[in-house]
Parts: sequence; C-alpha cells; structure tokens
Amino acid sequence: MSSASVVTLKAVSKSYFGQLQVLDRLELELKKGDFLYVLGGTGAGKSSFLRLLATEELPTQGELRLFGYDLARCSKSTLRSIRQVVGFVPQNIKLIPDLSVLDNLMLSVQLAGRRASGAQGRSRAGELLDRLGLVEKRERMASTLSGGEAQRLAVARALVRCPELVIADEPTGAQDRDFTWSLMDLFLRANTSGATVVVATHDREIIRRVRKRCAIMKNGNLHVEEGSGPCFF
Ligand SMILES: Nc1ncnc2c1ncn2[C@@H]1O[C@H](COP(=O)(O)OP(=O)(O)OP(=O)(O)O)[C@@H](O)[C@H]1O
Ligand SMILES: [Mg+2]
Repeated sequence: MSSASVVTLKAVSKSYFGQLQVLDRLELELKKGDFLYVLGGTGAGKSSFLRLLATEELPTQGELRLFGYDLARCSKSTLRSIRQVVGFVPQNIKLIPDLSVLDNLMLSVQLAGRRASGAQGRSRAGELLDRLGLVEKRERMASTLSGGEAQRLAVARALVRCPELVIADEPTGAQDRDFTWSLMDLFLRANTSGATVVVATHDREIIRRVRKRCAIMKNGNLHVEEGSGPCFF
C-alpha cells in the first residue's frame, strides 16, 4: 500500500436499522505516521467509527478511502490486500478460543501474507509474548486467559503482522498501570516505524502522559484538536 493518505473520510454517515444515526457526515484525513486518540462518552460512536476504519462495516453514506482506495468500490483482492496491512484490536477482543495463545498470533501472521510471515513472524510473536507477560502461557488455549491477558494477546495479534494502520478500541481497559504503559509503548513503536495509529480510550492519564492529537466524538461528529495540546482534560 503506497498512498501517503492512509485514511480519508468524506461526509461519512453510519446508521443502524435505517434509523439510529450514529455517525453524521464525518470528515477526516490521516496520513502515514499520524497518531490520533478518539475520545467521547459511552455510546458516542467510537467503536462504530473504528469498525469502519477496520473494514468490518461500510458507511451508510459518504466515502471512506483507505490507502487511497474507496472501500465501497474496490475489488475483493484490493480489499484483501488492505486488510493484510490493518491491525485491529476490537473492543470485544474476539480471540479464537480453541487455538493456543501462540497459534492465535501465528494465524494473524499467516493472514497478513508474505510480508509478515516466515521466521521473522515467529520471532516477532515470541518478542511480543515476552513483552506482554504471555510467554509462559503460549501453549494454553486462548479461552483460558484472564480478561487482561486476552486483551494483551489481542494487541499482540494486531501488531505481529507489522501493520501500516493500527486501530485499537480501548486496548488498555482491562490492564493494570504497568501493562498499560507496555501496550502504549508498543503502539508508539509501531507509530515510530511509520504506522498510522488510531486509539480509542477513556483513560485520561494516557492522554496526559502520551501527548498526541485528539478527536472527540460528539453528536455523531468528530471534533479534532489540532496539535498535541492539552486535549479536552
Ligand atoms: N451493530 C449495531 N446495531 C445497532 N446499534 C448499534 C450497533 N453498534 C452500535 N450501536 C449503537 O450505536 C451507538 C454507538 O455505539 P458505539 O459502540 O459505537 O459507542 P462507543 O462510543 O464505542 O461506546 P463505549 O465507550 O461504551 O464503547 C450506541 O447507541 C449503540 O447502541
Ligand atoms: Mg466502544
């Protein structure tokens, strides 16, 4: 994927059941290497917005482009290529419960195609498990993990494929402070290596300590604060 513009939304709206209007004519552009926090109250539409970016759903109206490709018009093979360079941490995690911790990671590597696989994929998986305190549990079924462990594995699964776009929906919600910073460190490293990163969070301390551009979701719209100032808190 080569476009410098990684995410472009033009008048993007999303409604469910043709009535509940969750997103209302959103405009946004993110370039390679951008980092954006998405804030907003519960039910504001953060997860709905992130699912669009992760290609899990399509807008009801408007245009959503990833890496320059209009998602509503691109071919299946282009969509597959886009998905290979997106790492998504959904709010509801969605591990494969009857695969081991390591196999959940290796499946993500395989699905990312040639660019992420091979010995390097395996060594990245080992490194992530080590950093996230999961080495000892690598042969355990994912269904046996604690909530916090499962969340860390979900982050590792998104990052192990060296994505160009990282989308993380409240990825630290189940962590203690130490693991919160371990996870934020991994997102920052991905960002420093050139990935565009979008993180939805309610955690004010993260936003205060790791200063990045913020956008607040309110009334179906995103209000982006330019610069990396004090945000909304
Ligand atoms: N698949 C769906 N079908 C119908 N309504 C939905 C669906 N997904 C979300 N909604 C509704 O859209 C609104 C926004 O939900 P969303 O999950 O995007 O909010 P959020 O900002 O992520 O909230 P939270 O901080 O609690 O995670 C809510 O009113 C929710 O009930
Ligand atoms: Mg949510």
